[in-house]
Parts: sequence; C-alpha cells; structure tokens
Amino acid sequence: MASLRFLSLFLVLPIHIALFSSLCFAEDDTIFYDFKVSYITASPLGVPQQVIAINGKFPGPVLNATTNNNIVINVQNDLDESLLMTWPGIQMRRNSWQDGVQGTNCPIPSQWNWTYQFQVKDQIGSFFYFPSLNLQRVSGGFGPVIINNRKVIPIPFDQPEGDIIFLIGDWYTRNHTALRTALDSGKDLDMPDGVLINGKGPYRYNTTLVPDGIEYETINVDPGKTYRVRVHNVGTSTSLNFRIQNHNLLLVETEGHYTSQQNYTSFEIHVGQSYSFLVTMDQNASSDYYIVASARFVNESFWQRVTGVAILHYSNSKGAASGPLPEAPSDIYNQWAAMTQPRSIRQNTSASGARPNPQGSFHYGSINITDTYVLRSLPPVTIDGKVRATLNGISFVKPETPIRLADNQ
Ligand SMILES: *[C@@H]1O[C@H](CO)[C@@H](O)[C@H](O)[C@H]1NC(C)=O
Ligand SMILES: *[C@@H]1O[C@H](CO)[C@@H](O)[C@H](O)[C@H]1NC(C)=O
Ligand SMILES: *[C@@H]1O[C@H](CO)[C@@H](O)[C@H](O)[C@H]1NC(C)=O
Ligand SMILES: *[C@@H]1O[C@H](CO)[C@@H](O)[C@H](O)[C@H]1NC(C)=O
Ligand SMILES: *[C@@H]1O[C@H](CO)[C@@H](O)[C@H](O)[C@H]1NC(C)=O
Ligand SMILES: *[C@@H]1O[C@H](CO)[C@@H](O)[C@H](O)[C@H]1NC(C)=O
Ligand SMILES: *[C@@H]1O[C@H](CO)[C@@H](O)[C@H](O)[C@H]1NC(C)=O
Ligand SMILES: *[C@@H]1O[C@H](CO)[C@@H](O)[C@H](O)[C@H]1NC(C)=O
Ligand SMILES: *[C@@H]1O[C@H](CO)[C@@H](O)[C@H](O)[C@H]1NC(C)=O
Repeated sequence: MASLRFLSLFLVLPIHIALFSSLCFAEDDTIFYDFKVSYITASPLGVPQQVIAINGKFPGPVLNATTNNNIVINVQNDLDESLLMTWPGIQMRRNSWQDGVQGTNCPIPSQWNWTYQFQVKDQIGSFFYFPSLNLQRVSGGFGPVIINNRKVIPIPFDQPEGDIIFLIGDWYTRNHTALRTALDSGKDLDMPDGVLINGKGPYRYNTTLVPDGIEYETINVDPGKTYRVRVHNVGTSTSLNFRIQNHNLLLVETEGHYTSQQNYTSFEIHVGQSYSFLVTMDQNASSDYYIVASARFVNESFWQRVTGVAILHYSNSKGAASGPLPEAPSDIYNQWAAMTQPRSIRQNTSASGARPNPQGSFHYGSINITDTYVLRSLPPVTIDGKVRATLNGISFVKPETPIRLADNQ
C-alpha cells in the first residue's frame, strides 16, 4: 500500500507543479498595512477615557487577506509603554517567533516600530488581533481578521450578500493601567461597566438603565438578503450570549473551520472565541430589531447594566425597535445545560478548509503513554499580593529571554 501511494504521488507531481506555476504564484500577493497604535479619548459608555486606537480608530481596521497572501504590517508604538500585537489562529509559516506574545517576541518599546511579516495559508475564516501585553486589551487595540478562500476553493454555502462584523466584549470605564494596579494590589476587577459592540455603548432600550447621549451601533441591511455575520468576543472575563431579535443564526464557521450548519436563536460566545453565522433578513421590517450581547452565567438582576445592544435596521423598516430585549437563556447556574450548545458544534469534514496534518498523526494511537498531566484551570488566586490566573495554581512568569531567541543560543 505504502509503495503504491508513493507511486501515485510521484505520477501526479508534474501536474501539481504545472498547477502551482499557473495558479499559486499569481495569488502570492503581498498586502501592506500600517498600524499606528496610540491613545485617543473616547466615551463609549458616556464617560471620557483613554482608549487604545489603531490609526486613530477604535476598534482597529479589518485585516482582510486571502490564502497565500503575504502580510506585512508595520506597527508603530505610540503608547507610553511596550507593545506586542498578536494574530492568533493565523498560522505562520517559518516565523512563529513573530506571533506577538511575551516569551516568543521582544516587546516593541514605546516610540519604536516593528514590521511583522507572515503568510496566511488555508485557515479560511474569522479571527481577531489584539495587544497581548500589560492588560492593554481591556483598553482596546483589537480588530477583526478575515482569511478568504482562493477562487478555486469552494465555500460550503452560497456567497452571502456581504460581511457584517461584531466585536463584542465586556468593558471598564477604568483604563488598563488602573485595572492592572487593582490586580497588582490584590483586588479583583469586579463587575464590568458595560458591554461594547464595535466600540460603542448600548442603544437606549431602557431609559432607566441606559443614560442619554450614548453612541450605539446600527447595522443597515436589505430585506430578503443573507449576510455572513462574524462575531468575536474581544472582552476580558465575561462570557456573552449573542442574539438578534426574531432572526435565526445559522452557524457555519468557527476560527478557520467550517461547521455543520445549524440554526440557533442565541449563541454563547466565550472570551477569545470567533464564529460566523449566516443571517437571512426574512422578517417583515415592521420595526428595527435588537442585536444583544448580554453577560452569561451571572445573576441578571445585578448585571443588567452589563448588556450590549445594537440595532438591525432594514432599508424598508417601519419604525424604531421598542419593548423588552429578546430573552436570554435562563439556566444561569446550570453548568451542564451550558455544555449542550458547545457540544452541538461539529466540524464539517467534507467542506473545504484547514485539515489536521495527516502525516504522522495516525501514529498517535500507538505511542505508549509514560506520563499523564492534568491541567486544571482554577479561579484567580493571590500570589505575592497580586491577583493572578493560574493552571494548577502556577502562574506565568515572563522569561528573561524570549523562548525562540533562547532556542537559537
Ligand atoms: C489611566 O487612568 C489613571 C487613573 O484614572 C490615570 O491617572 C492615567 O493617566 C490613565 N492612563 C492612561 C494611559 O490613560
Ligand atoms: C475583503 O476582501 C474581499 C476581496 O478580496 C472583499 O470581497 C470583501 O468585501 C472584503 N471584506 C471586508 C470586510 O473588507
Ligand atoms: C519602521 O518604519 C519605517 C517606515 O515607517 C521602516 O522603514 C522601518 O523598516 C521600520 N522598522 C522596523 C524595525 O520595522
Ligand atoms: C458540509 O459541506 C458540504 C460541502 O460543501 C455540504 O454539501 C454539506 O451540506 C455540509 N454539511 C452540513 C451538515 O453542513
Ligand atoms: C427598565 O429597567 C428598570 C430597572 O431594571 C425596570 O424596573 C423597568 O421596568 C425597565 N423599563 C422598561 C420600560 O422595561
Ligand atoms: C435556518 O433558519 C432559516 C430561517 O431563518 C431557514 O430558512 C433555514 O432553512 C434554516 N436552516 C437550517 C439548516 O435549519
Ligand atoms: C409583520 O408585521 C405585522 C405588523 O405590520 C406584525 O403584526 C407581525 O407580527 C409581523 N410578522 C413578523 C413575522 O414579524
Ligand atoms: C439574583 O439576585 C437577586 C437579588 O439579590 C435575588 O433576589 C435573586 O434570587 C437572584 N437570582 C438567582 C437566579 O439567583
Ligand atoms: C510500547 O510498549 C510496548 C511494550 O512495552 C513495546 O513493544 C512497543 O514497542 C512500544 N511502542 C512504542 C511506539 O514505543
């Protein structure tokens, strides 16, 4: 069998070479981005505060690329402290030392710049980038990443009308330095002050709960059309329930893997996760509709103010959204019920997209187990008077020399 497979590989090789020279080279384009990272003043929850912006914008721009594109991003650090940008999920050929986290990269000092260069491959789907040091992500600096399929690679659904991106996340009116100081003095972060949707505060769905004058997100759509809605939880500590009033969310992709296509009326998105849904604008536009991101696994009567609300506006809408928000799941303390939804997500292995590397992986079952490690994620603990996350009670300590640099010594 093995020799047969080898032979057939040999026979198709010249065809592959011919294909590569005609198709791939044309698509190995290079895309350039300039990211100027600085503080701006913004008031997403009505309170002016320092926010981390990219090119003056919060959230940052979309990084939109296609398989085989070479990405060159010149990051200029105009903050008053070190910075690293990380691009999780984006596989980096040859240069994983540029993944932008403490331990593999040297931080970019204040007022310096650094140019990241990497190639995206077949992780076709939705991700987001963010600053990885010093708790900066709680102040912003994040933005969406889209990896598109090449034209020759089919997607497992009809081409949607367009992309709609939601960056949802819990938000504090205190900045990252203030929150860092709190953690370092042994205090918790406490309840966030709100949930932002695309850097904006909630629509005023309740005049008691939401102050006047807050800018909210409005999404304009046409009736009858289907959009690809990409949702990312860019927050710090809060799991969010995402839902669009009267609309189904057809799950199709998560972080570079196509899924079996299933409808949900609301979807749980934990911190750091990204999902794509197809949403068909199949309602009669009797009014606008609420888009909601509310805190999950918490007592809602305490957490009411921590709710993000945006507006879905049909081009033929007959009026504003009104009335109560669409209901969230009510099983807040039932951890098992909370497992049902994630367990319903299945990869569609007959669709295109990234595959586990088959070379060698079929040997895994025959490897003898010599040691077993159990990693337990525990609630934060106090170490040397500072609040820290741990695995098995052990917290991360920054290495003096980045690990990949140390490898080269
Ligand atoms: C963060 O907040 C603290 C306390 O309010 C303030 O002193 C500091 O200037 C702020 N820093 C930045 C970078 O906004
Ligand atoms: C990304 O680029 C593709 C073409 O390469 C374009 O069709 C699409 O609209 C872009 N998406 C965004 C969100 O900019
Ligand atoms: C810094 O930016 C300049 C252009 O703005 C560029 O020529 C230079 O290569 C960059 N330096 C690094 C280390 O990326
Ligand atoms: C999986 O992808 C294939 C190929 O595009 C498609 O025909 C099929 O309907 C998908 N299956 C599910 C359950 O989504
Ligand atoms: C607004 O919220 C308050 C506080 O939870 C609640 O008592 C009130 O009924 C809400 N108003 C409306 C119109 O839903
Ligand atoms: C999902 O719901 C939409 C209506 O919003 C419906 O048209 C579609 O057939 C449903 N798809 C699946 C796979 O259930
Ligand atoms: C359509 O609009 C009417 C009012 O114009 C409303 O009563 C009805 O519930 C709406 N139907 C749907 C499916 O939204
Ligand atoms: C949430 O908190 C309120 C106020 O303390 C309490 O009355 C209610 O029972 C709590 N709800 C749940 C589900 O525990
Ligand atoms: C696993 O252990 C068995 C029995 O000790 C031995 O025969 C076998 O070669 C080992 N397999 C590997 C992959 O080391």
